[in-house]
Amino acid sequence: MEIHSAAHSYQALVGVGLLGRLGECLRKCLPRETCAIISDSNVAPFFADRVKRGLTSAGFKPTLITIPAGEKSKTIEQAGAICDQMIAGGLDRQSFVVGLGGGVIGDISGFVAAIYHRGIPQVQIPTTLLAMVDSSIGGKTGVNTAAGKNLIGAVHHPSLVIDDVDVLKTLPRREFNQGFAEIIKHAVIVDAEMFAALKEKKTRSPRRPLALQSLIRRNIEIKSKIVAKDERDRTGERAILNFGHTVGHGIERAGDYQEFLHGEAVSLGIVAACAISIKKAGLPRDQRDAIVDLLRRFDLPTQLPRDFPREKIFEALPYDKKFESGNIRFVVAPRIGSAHLSSDVTLDDIREAVASL
Ligand SMILES: NC(=O)c1ccc[n+]([C@@H]2O[C@H](COP(=O)([O-])OP(=O)(O)OC[C@H]3O[C@@H](n4cnc5c(N)ncnc54)[C@H](O)[C@@H]3O)[C@@H](O)[C@H]2O)c1
Ligand SMILES: [Zn+2]
Repeated sequence: MEIHSAAHSYQALVGVGLLGRLGECLRKCLPRETCAIISDSNVAPFFADRVKRGLTSAGFKPTLITIPAGEKSKTIEQAGAICDQMIAGGLDRQSFVVGLGGGVIGDISGFVAAIYHRGIPQVQIPTTLLAMVDSSIGGKTGVNTAAGKNLIGAVHHPSLVIDDVDVLKTLPRREFNQGFAEIIKHAVIVDAEMFAALKEKKTRSPRRPLALQSLIRRNIEIKSKIVAKDERDRTGERAILNFGHTVGHGIERAGDYQEFLHGEAVSLGIVAACAISIKKAGLPRDQRDAIVDLLRRFDLPTQLPRDFPREKIFEALPYDKKFESGNIRFVVAPRIGSAHLSSDVTLDDIREAVASL
């Protein structure tokens, strides 16, 4: 698939067996030699050797850098440590980065590529469903700070994205399911037809590579089209991708990034956003129920545990990027397949929605 960004156009390849043809895929778009493969401690044992061999046999000189798996690694310190290893490995302005992993690796490796020698190319090889349908597309890269998620970052589009659905076979079920939170989000904000399709069983047994490939393609198309309209998140058009994320990020942080995965927190955030959408945008109650039902079908959480520290969710909110100069910018959905930014949502509305979770 061809993806257009303000800086350049690039391809996203979606298929099976692509890791085996890596060298050939990369040679076409990267006439460079040295590169850093950035991966994590879970993913590297499965795929790093194959990726390294593929690159070496095509004439590239890769250096493998492995960081501990998990959101806690997405920090400025870790990005600095990666840069240090790249310097020690002799990588320069002519080198490029290959991010091999889920969204955490995509975000931090993309960020490293954006700042190393003021920017070098990057190739993304997403290994989670969430990274394939969401984080590898759109050029947002970054790291977290103690104050909140993704507060430091850069827009830096990849030169190539390689989605080999075979790599999803080793992904734990819980991780697989969380990718559907972003897919369901896409369906709710712009694609009622995909929403209906997701209710059918055959789309929901997605270890079937063909069904999965077309679902991934459709989601890449949705995300890249929205991003192309508003790459720098200025006009509000891109902001609709944050549906479910205002509360979702708060929940993720309140759970210290341990209790819920990103997609799980987003699932809960979507339920809260639906409650607010009923009140502020006229979302019909039966459509809210259909959304919650679909989330449940993928074993995604739709209720907070009774003892969850709800108050902590609000501690994170003021730091959230979606709060500009005191106004709460909140994405609401008036119906399945449509969403917009509202400035009509108050902190009390959010409190009420969280209390009912
Ligand atoms: N840049 C964006 O636009 C954007 C969009 C959405 C999410 N994100 C970010 O993405 C991150 C979440 O992404 P994620 O869910 O992919 O997290 P992740 O990268 O932590 O991956 C989830 C877990 O699965 C493991 N894993 C990955 N691929 C595997 C495979 N094929 N087999 C076995 N294990 C595998 C990882 O090691 C990790 O433990 C968050 O940091 C979020 O902020 C960014
Ligand atoms: Zn997300």
